[in-house]
Amino acid sequence: MTAPVAVVTGGGSGIGRATCARLLTEGFTLAVLDLDGDAARAAAGPGGTARALDVADAPAVAQAFSELASALGRIDVLVNNAGISGGPTATVCHETPVEEWDRVLATNTRGPFLCSRAVLPVMLAQGSGHVITIASVAGQVAFPARCAYTASKGAALMFAKSLAVDYAHTGIRSNAVCPGFVRTPMTQWRLDIPELAAQVESHIPVGRVAEADDIAEAVAVLASGRMGYMTGHALVVDGGWTAV
Ligand SMILES: NC(=O)c1ccc[n+]([C@@H]2O[C@H](COP(=O)([O-])OP(=O)(O)OC[C@H]3O[C@@H](n4cnc5c(N)ncnc54)[C@H](O)[C@@H]3O)[C@@H](O)[C@H]2O)c1
Repeated sequence: MTAPVAVVTGGGSGIGRATCARLLTEGFTLAVLDLDGDAARAAAGPGGTARALDVADAPAVAQAFSELASALGRIDVLVNNAGISGGPTATVCHETPVEEWDRVLATNTRGPFLCSRAVLPVMLAQGSGHVITIASVAGQVAFPARCAYTASKGAALMFAKSLAVDYAHTGIRSNAVCPGFVRTPMTQWRLDIPELAAQVESHIPVGRVAEADDIAEAVAVLASGRMGYMTGHALVVDGGWTAV
């Protein structure tokens, strides 16, 4: 049997990097797409494919997926993981520069749309496929002073559900993973400040932030094809944060 193929966006760092490592152990052949091409290559593993790509660049995304489909023959799983939290100016609504709003929404919402739009014809031709979108609990509860990020993840989550509804009859599934607070290069600066780290951990019933591997495990279970009746689901992996 040929190895299943997964495309992971933003696979060069953090949750995406851990997901690549986990999927490699599950026997997937990987294609890793990231702004940082070197980091993508390091994550792709032997036999994997990698390229530098901005998921918000429509022509580049269309070309990349077309070439990947030709080279790999099939794409079983797309992990829409590439994301940004926004810079220090992306705070409350009236103080967020329009350019910063656009930048966050372009990566976190337009990116999953463009990549899914590019992969769906391949999955439709196969009669199977699974789009897994890394949203956030910020898609379910608002993060204070992070309006662009919160809006972008709410949109990404509902986009994942929209795909589930529209493609269920074709054999294609779509699910979202909603991590809570995860230790990655995106968040490490906050965890390096003891008071901020304590503040974050005080909201998490299990008493610690997640490691990237905790989220990669959830993605791997979804990607495995087990729980095959599940589609349109938001899998919350947050140590109980939003259960309080
Ligand atoms: N870290 C957390 O606490 C947390 C919590 C919930 C959700 N998430 C989500 O998980 C995903 C991964 O986050 P992370 O914490 O691992 O971040 P990270 O910064 O460690 O990694 C993000 C990766 O995405 C790549 N990337 C960024 N913009 C891109 C673009 N336009 N095109 C292609 N690649 C791009 C970066 O180069 C980087 O390799 C994001 O969608 C993030 O919003 C993170």
